[in-house]
This record gives sequence, structure tokens and C-alpha cells, in this order.
Amino acid sequence: MKKIEAFIRHEAFESIRKDLLDSGIPSLSITDVKGSGRQKGITESYRGSELVIHLRPKLKIECVVDDSEVTTVCDTILKYARTGEVGDGKIFIIGVEDAIRIRTGERGASVLQSHEAEEIPSGV
Ligand SMILES: Nc1ncnc2c1ncn2[C@@H]1O[C@H](COP(=O)(O)OP(=O)(O)OP(=O)(O)O)[C@@H](O)[C@H]1O
Ligand SMILES: [Mg+2]
Repeated sequence: MKKIEAFIRHEAFESIRKDLLDSGIPSLSITDVKGSGRQKGITESYRGSELVIHLRPKLKIECVVDDSEVTTVCDTILKYARTGEVGDGKIFIIGVEDAIRIRTGERGASVLQSHEAEEIPSGV
């Protein structure tokens, strides 16, 4: 199991979410974050003095999947998040020891994403 942690521009998210859902990967988390990359800050003027703004808003996506689905998730993120401009973001791939579905106590990769046999009402 791996956690894909991606920092992207907000605009790319809806297309990524739809494509992942179509690929059988409905489960993920998002967080609004602020971060900095390698580029120098943007200089802004505030009350007459120059300020360098180092932090830019980004969206963090966290998605834990079976190893076999890592390529699908990364390719989907790259497809929509890459504009070729600086600040497109970054993807980290992190090893995950185990996962537990709290409701049932099941463990392992089978709890991560959707199973065709089991349709859950939306939003749950
Ligand atoms: N090493 C890192 N650790 C944690 N978060 C990071 C790291 N690198 C980037 N981020 C997050 O990703 C966001 C986007 O990074 P960004 O795309 O600017 O990276 P970069 O290396 O400067 O590449 P680029 O040249 O395309 O701008 C950052 O604002 C930050 O939230
Ligand atoms: Mg950058």
C-alpha cells in the first residue's frame, strides 16, 4: 500500500477526482494548504514597504491505494495538474504499513478503495 500525497493547483482537482472515480478510486482526502517551492517569493508592496510573499495556496490530495494503482493515480494527477509553468506542484509516494476499516475491523488493501459488489450510498 502507498499513500500518494500531491500538492496541486486547486483548478486541477475536479477533473482529477472524476477520473479517479471512473478508475474505481473514489476514496481520498483534500486539504487547503499553503506552501513554498523553489521559486523566489512574489514581491508585494504593503504600506509603502516591499514584502516578499513566500507562501502560495495549494491543494493537498491524500489517496491511499494498493501498489498496483499507484501508476493510475500519479498519471491522473499529472494529466490535469501539469501546465508546464513553475508551481505546478509535486507528488510524493509514501509507504503505508496497514489500513483498518473502523466499522468492521477489516485490515489491508481491500479496505482502501471501491469493490464492485458493495455499493455505498453517496456521501457516507
Ligand atoms: N519538498 C517538499 N516538501 C513538502 N511540500 C513541498 C515540497 N516541495 C513542494 N511542496 C509543496 O508543493 C507546492 C508546490 O511546489 P512547487 O510546484 O512550487 O515546487 P518546485 O520544486 O518549486 O517546482 P516548480 O519549479 O515547478 O515550481 C509547494 O507550495 C508546497 O506546498
Ligand atoms: Mg515552485
